[in-house]
Amino acid sequence: MPDFNVAGKRVLITGGTGGIGGAFARAFADLAAPPADADARIRHEPLDVRDDTAVEALAARIDTLDVLIHCAGRASPSEYEPDIFADVLDVHLVGGLRLVNAFHPHLKASAGCVINIASMYSFFGSPMTPAYGAAKAGVVALTRSLALRFAADGIRVNAIAPGWIDTALTRAVRDNKAFFENTLSRIPIGRWAEPDEVAGAAVFLASPAARLITGITLPVDGGYSAA
Ligand SMILES: NC(=O)c1ccc[n+]([C@@H]2O[C@H](COP(=O)([O-])OP(=O)(O)OC[C@H]3O[C@@H](n4cnc5c(N)ncnc54)[C@H](O)[C@@H]3O)[C@@H](O)[C@H]2O)c1
Repeated sequence: MPDFNVAGKRVLITGGTGGIGGAFARAFADLAAPPADADARIRHEPLDVRDDTAVEALAARIDTLDVLIHCAGRASPSEYEPDIFADVLDVHLVGGLRLVNAFHPHLKASAGCVINIASMYSFFGSPMTPAYGAAKAGVVALTRSLALRFAADGIRVNAIAPGWIDTALTRAVRDNKAFFENTLSRIPIGRWAEPDEVAGAAVFLASPAARLITGITLPVDGGYSAA
């Protein structure tokens, strides 16, 4: 029987206060404990993933880790400005590398896994947010590279590419009626999705059932990237 059990796994989620990161945290906690006790299993730590020292300090405070999910993210209306462009890349892409470097000993010890968060903009042009698009395309490539680099250590590295999910990050574009209608008309299942609907993919990729899977980017998008 395939083993989908993730109970007992220690999971670090950046962007855990956000829509998708929060849904990931609740999913792993709910699967590890009765729902009434699940909240107590979630611990919050402030962290800026752009800060080398802070990331290393967090890694030094954590004894064991099974799953590292890099879900922190931002976008800006000013991404054609080079310093903003670099900052957005720092959060999504360099931040991912920073985390993997810091937590490599933990993940090697646990034969753990990494899950990065890509996007539909990993595959399509992003004219309003070019840094976000470049970062998310980079996440796909970085995921492959890290998967190859760390396979011998028993660490799997994958990414999830969510489609259009209702969160704070997408509020502005969702409120833009023309943009919203345009994305909606492109989604085969005919609707935007909720953060909880992405969590199953993270649980699967973190579970023993996915032990043969490394280096992939899994779209969770209602068919958007197939159209
Ligand atoms: N919402 C979508 O439709 C969608 C689609 C594809 C990919 N994504 C990706 O999913 C991830 C989560 O996004 P979301 O939609 O939940 O957005 P969100 O705004 O709800 O959450 C983003 C989180 O990232 C955190 N964050 C931002 N900068 C940070 C930094 N420097 N250090 C640490 N944390 C930082 C925020 O505090 C927040 O908790 C992001 O990587 C985003 O690019 C979202």
